Amino acid sequence: MINFNLLTLFPEMFPGMLGQSLAGKALARGDWSFNAINIRDFSTDNHKTVDDTPYGGGAGMVMRADIIEHALLSLKKPSRNIYLSPRGKVLNQALVKELSQEQDLTLLCGRYEGVDQRILDAHDFEEVSIGDYVLSGGEPAALILMDSCIRLLPNVMGNVDTADNESFGSATNGLLEYPHYTRPASWTDAKGNTHNVPDILQSGNHAKIKDWRREQSKKLTQAVRPDLLKKNV
Ligand code: ADE
Repeated sequence: MINFNLLTLFPEMFPGMLGQSLAGKALARGDWSFNAINIRDFSTDNHKTVDDTPYGGGAGMVMRADIIEHALLSLKKPSRNIYLSPRGKVLNQALVKELSQEQDLTLLCGRYEGVDQRILDAHDFEEVSIGDYVLSGGEPAALILMDSCIRLLPNVMGNVDTADNESFGSATNGLLEYPHYTRPASWTDAKGNTHNVPDILQSGNHAKIKDWRREQSKKLTQAVRPDLLKKNV
């Protein structure tokens, strides 16, 4: 059971895609919950402003610390605070595993140029990025972080083996996952090319299949993500 508090200007973006499929079923079962809080509800002026121009000049608007703090203090229980930002440490499977074990996570989603630094300092926000590219807001990043945590909760994935076997899981030793095949064993595509399932996978020799898969994982990782091999010798 994990609860996500979302501090956002777009609460209607939640649960979004997480209302579907396995995460949606887990939500309905009560395996996880969310509480989307509209930061604008904590604005104090008639225009419901939440942002202002940056000190020192420059483009864009900055979300105000005092208003975000009011939203944050409306939460009943204090929790680990995360600010989604391209400036943060990059989310990886080890961090996902750690976060998925928390009871509550508060995710601050910024818009505009970002948030006043003082809210991050005053309330110990950890900054987390989902990758080296810039989104127009933290909400899609929060949904991705949530998805990656939810699928690790007990009972969410049908086959307990699966989460460990895939890319970055412990069974692949942090490497990318080997390729998968299913029926038909021989398939001719629309261009007339025939593609056969590798013989070894149809051999029934489980030791050899395991070796083949490990070899495929290594080759794929070498070709696509050689940086991962350096960490996993
Ligand atoms: N907000 C904007 N870009 C982001 C990113 N790459 N990761 C997390 N939050 C973001």
